[in-house]
Amino acid sequence: MKTPWTAKNIPSQQGRRVVITGANSGIGFHTALELARHGAEVILPARTETKAQGAVERIRAEVPDAKVLAEIIDLADQSSIRAFAARTIERFPGQSLDLLINNAGVMAIPTREVTVDGFERQFATNYLGPFALTALLLPSIKPQPGSRIVTLCSNAGKYGKIAFDNLQSERRYSPMFGAYTQAKLADLIFALELQRRLTAAQSPILSVGAHPGYAVTNLHDSGPGAGNSPMKILLNLLHPLSQDAHHGALPTLFAAVSPTAQPGGYYGPDGFLETKGNPTAAKIPAAATDQAVAARLWEQSERLTGTTFASLGSLTKADAPYVPSVLGK
Ligand SMILES: NC(=O)c1ccc[n+]([C@@H]2O[C@H](COP(=O)([O-])OP(=O)(O)OC[C@H]3O[C@@H](n4cnc5c(N)ncnc54)[C@H](OP(=O)(O)O)[C@@H]3O)[C@@H](O)[C@H]2O)c1
Repeated sequence: MKTPWTAKNIPSQQGRRVVITGANSGIGFHTALELARHGAEVILPARTETKAQGAVERIRAEVPDAKVLAEIIDLADQSSIRAFAARTIERFPGQSLDLLINNAGVMAIPTREVTVDGFERQFATNYLGPFALTALLLPSIKPQPGSRIVTLCSNAGKYGKIAFDNLQSERRYSPMFGAYTQAKLADLIFALELQRRLTAAQSPILSVGAHPGYAVTNLHDSGPGAGNSPMKILLNLLHPLSQDAHHGALPTLFAAVSPTAQPGGYYGPDGFLETKGNPTAAKIPAAATDQAVAARLWEQSERLTGTTFASLGSLTKADAPYVPSVLGK
């Protein structure tokens, strides 16, 4: 039998610098903790200074010499994303990052909410935010083997559909099997399309997707709430299939550091229905591999966020410096 991949398999991360979103809670926290334990310098942006600092202290309680930096980002606010990216680039100039982990997310918010940018909140937080953050930080990622962008997807993404006539759920809003599954399918489409574009630009940076199965975290309370909604009842029924947040973090960690993770790979738990277990290659739903949908979604995401991946083009045009374009507001 194949030996399961665990946190003990994480190679030394000394000298590596990581940005991980949503690391004050759940899967992100355990991902940050293990990376810090193995020597990485972790930049940990949360929605508030208090949340970020709290996570830094919890990591230091376990790893006293951890190199962890508290930062602030709101992925549902494009100006906050740009401000975080600008601070990071100023603090760590040049190509100075090894890993970007797009982990933060929200699930099944009961009623449609609109962000300051006019986007539906789940699409904004789970997809457009990570898209823009990746565009802004890609020029800071070292163009060398080992550099990676990991995007958190979901097993539920296989129930998703990219509804170009309803991207922001403006015509109809379905909290879980609509807005959430669409955003999470978009994450996987993005991870795969980003790899195609990195490969075309002959970049050694990898884009890899991961999903945690069903992990017990704050996600199931922060969105659907702690009450007795049908979604909450369903989640409770599925509880025997769940695992803890540490195990939920293993596919992300595998995607981020395993030498065997593949370009454009997708990793999740190996158990029944991919809900729990040890990291393995996850099944990629057919909807995530439609390249026409990927190209159309990419173009709309650049337009909506005002960000571009011009740095990918400049990899092949030596004289073209990267100039991030931003939302004109
Ligand atoms: N748990 C599961 O079973 C499961 C299954 C499939 C996929 N996932 C994915 O795994 C990822 C991590 O979720 P989790 O389960 O660890 O949930 P979690 O414990 O609720 O953590 C989510 C993190 O995202 C942060 N976040 C939410 N909205 C944000 C925003 N606007 N800006 C910045 N950060 C924001 C949260 O910050 P606050 O503390 O401020 O809310 C929190 O740190 C998500 O992408 C989720 O979709 C989870």
